[in-house]
Amino acid sequence: MADSTKTATLSFGDKTLELPMLSPTVGPDVIDISKLYAKGGVFTHDPGFTSTSSCESTITFIDGDKGELLHRGYPIDQLAEKSHYLEVCYLLLYGELPTAAQLEDFESRVTRHTMVHEQMMNFFRGFRRDAHPMAVMVGVVGAMSAFYHDSTDITDPWQREVASIRLLAKMPTIAAMAYKYTIGQPFEYPRNDLDYASNFLRMCFAVPAEDYEVDPILSRAMDRIFTLHADHEQNASTSTVRLASSSGANPFACIAAGIACLWGPAHGGANQACLEMLREIGSVDRIPEFIARAKDKNDPFRLMGFGHRVYKNFDPRAKVMKQSADEVLDLLGIENNPTLQVAKELEKQALEDPYFIEKKLFPNVDFYSGIILEAMGFPTSMFTPIFAVSRTVGWVSQWKEMIADPALKIGRPRQLYTGHAKRDYVDVENR
Ligand code: SDX
Repeated sequence: MADSTKTATLSFGDKTLELPMLSPTVGPDVIDISKLYAKGGVFTHDPGFTSTSSCESTITFIDGDKGELLHRGYPIDQLAEKSHYLEVCYLLLYGELPTAAQLEDFESRVTRHTMVHEQMMNFFRGFRRDAHPMAVMVGVVGAMSAFYHDSTDITDPWQREVASIRLLAKMPTIAAMAYKYTIGQPFEYPRNDLDYASNFLRMCFAVPAEDYEVDPILSRAMDRIFTLHADHEQNASTSTVRLASSSGANPFACIAAGIACLWGPAHGGANQACLEMLREIGSVDRIPEFIARAKDKNDPFRLMGFGHRVYKNFDPRAKVMKQSADEVLDLLGIENNPTLQVAKELEKQALEDPYFIEKKLFPNVDFYSGIILEAMGFPTSMFTPIFAVSRTVGWVSQWKEMIADPALKIGRPRQLYTGHAKRDYVDVENR
């Protein structure tokens, strides 16, 4: 628990209140307003939570001005270069980098939970073939609470652990099944002799008619994409998971709520929207037209993949993603990919434009990820499901942290009511 050594004085009307201030390990101090209404009879008001801390956490820290992202203190660029996704999952879930023995045990436990209950296949068959894979994932992940009753009791630490491993292990299988279903191909079962990223690529792209060998460079790029999207403080979908979990709902239902929130184009859906935007721009000579639209207050168009609530500098994940994009496209011999050319020129022009400089709008994690995923053979509809696969460990880690907090309370914000004051019912004949 952060310590409270300072206070903030708040004066309004005939009241002066001393509110405790809490100091973090790193980042801005916070003013604890939890007793404000009881003591002062007023609420604070912060739609979108631009200045509001919703919880205390030890998992991830973002310095938006420096463009820094730390997972349990380790910088994302070091983790992307030296670690791999399941090791980062261990770090996020348990707080420390694992020893070799701990990592081997963890990877073995995850690997042995990658299959889903055979009857879950029936869920997929209830969807139209043209269903968006995110719609399928929301439904199927929510339905996991109907299949894994022995890991839904959140008061039991062992059941919380089993649910965490099951979610982490089965999400790639469910995402791959959602993809296979939409293209009318048979489901591929996970393989225990493959690493996490290779297993996912194989479940997506293998067919029973022939052997499938995962290209190690593509597998490394896939693993890096998973690592870069793993967790990100109290973003919209993580906050959704925390709020849903605060009511005591089971973990599968809460993660399904997180998937639903991630789907939005302002959040995890931006990678799909960004690639569709780059395709719509089509050529570098049309970039000025789109930059002008993004700056036009009367045009709702925004440059997808640009801007961020917290980063007011380069998103460190975008930097690593850009390097991966060059590697993957070079490997595939499509370094002249027109979409990548448009992306690079758009980034250059936007970063030189006074509007974007003034508003500190830099490329975010979604700007380059879509280019890599498209080059790897994924349709745009699979971009956000892949983000959901990666972010599951972040949601689960934040969920575990919250559920284990003895001070846990149900999340229940108040409001600024500007509707009608009390008035009497009017009979229809008098209206
Ligand atoms: C993710 O929270 C997280 O951590 C999210 C995420 C994660 O890992 O979980 O990082 C993943 O969601 C990344 C963001 C992906 N979304 C997009 O790329 C969509 C495009 N970006 C915008 O929608 C926007 O930048 C947001 C939603 C990301 C951030 O919005 P904010 O913080 O609420 O900022 P804002 O909308 O108030 O914009 C501030 C100003 C506005 O102009 P003014 O009203 O002040 O004149 O900047 C402008 C906006 O119009 N602006 C943009 C812009 N983003 C903001 N103008 C043009 N293009 C853009 N992309």
